[in-house]
Amino acid sequence: MYTRVYSYNLNYTHSCRYNLWRNNLNIEKNKIYNIDCSIGLKEMDDCTVDLTLTSPPYDGIRAYNGYSFDFENIAKELFRVTRDGGTVVWIVNDQTIKDNETGSAFMQALYFKEIGFNLHDTMIYHKNAVGACGSVNAYNQAFEYMFVLAKGKMKTFNPLKDIKALNRGRMRNYATNRSGVHGYNLNTVAKITPLNSKNQNVWSYDIGFQSSDKSWHPATFPEKLARDHIVSWSNVGDLILDPFMGSGTTAKIAIMYNRNYIGFEISEEYVKKSEKRLDNIKSGFYYILDAL
Ligand SMILES: C[S@@+](CC[C@H](N)C(=O)[O-])C[C@H]1O[C@@H](n2cnc3c(N)ncnc32)[C@H](O)[C@@H]1O
Repeated sequence: MYTRVYSYNLNYTHSCRYNLWRNNLNIEKNKIYNIDCSIGLKEMDDCTVDLTLTSPPYDGIRAYNGYSFDFENIAKELFRVTRDGGTVVWIVNDQTIKDNETGSAFMQALYFKEIGFNLHDTMIYHKNAVGACGSVNAYNQAFEYMFVLAKGKMKTFNPLKDIKALNRGRMRNYATNRSGVHGYNLNTVAKITPLNSKNQNVWSYDIGFQSSDKSWHPATFPEKLARDHIVSWSNVGDLILDPFMGSGTTAKIAIMYNRNYIGFEISEEYVKKSEKRLDNIKSGFYYILDAL
């Protein structure tokens, strides 16, 4: 469990350029390892991961048979294995204890900044359902944080453009020429309104049965959420890491979208079931939900 007393005095730094001495690539691509991620990450080469997409257990909300993790060391390892310009998407929430939210999601985001990541965007995963946690004296919990972190200047952004512009494809009513004159004349540079514009940073998904083909894991994130992040922050052939692989959602979507993956998951049961799930995908057997 994350129990850190927050401090600003850390002097951890890492750059891909100055750590090329480390070359012990013991971890193969396109596998899920049944291992504590803090051990697995140590076996990974520097600067190899394009995108980490993960949802760690937060606070004490889900015990997962008592498994816990060392947040600070994992954060530092994530920084080390991420390529320059690579991205980490860290999806978390807080537990509410006696009407008091822990705030650990924000503390983790600030810690990532402290060790060198840019907090590129704080996005919201809105759930189209009523959440179970929170306080009875507060409104129903309906979202989780999706902290999008970048190691330096982000190298990949393929924006989703699902918002249909009102005047899509039409000429703008007014255009401005170089002299600042509005309206149409021979010198006016007329522009056509784009068909679609960039999505907002609050993403809504159905959860539960509508979101995944796996009911045996208590806390999967929706397949569509995984797809939207993978498409946004990586390209075909890139390496996607999920250190808390759970039911294998990240790996499944990585395969479907022609990316490589590496996963760590501490529960043997979940790894075995995930492998079966991925076999189906690899052999081309898709559930309806897979047709994203
Ligand atoms: C929130 S779930 C991830 C669910 C996943 N995103 C999915 O869609 O299936 C977190 C997972 O982390 C695993 N876990 C907990 N501590 C771990 C550790 N130290 N190393 C690796 N996995 C761990 C738990 O067993 C659990 O399956």
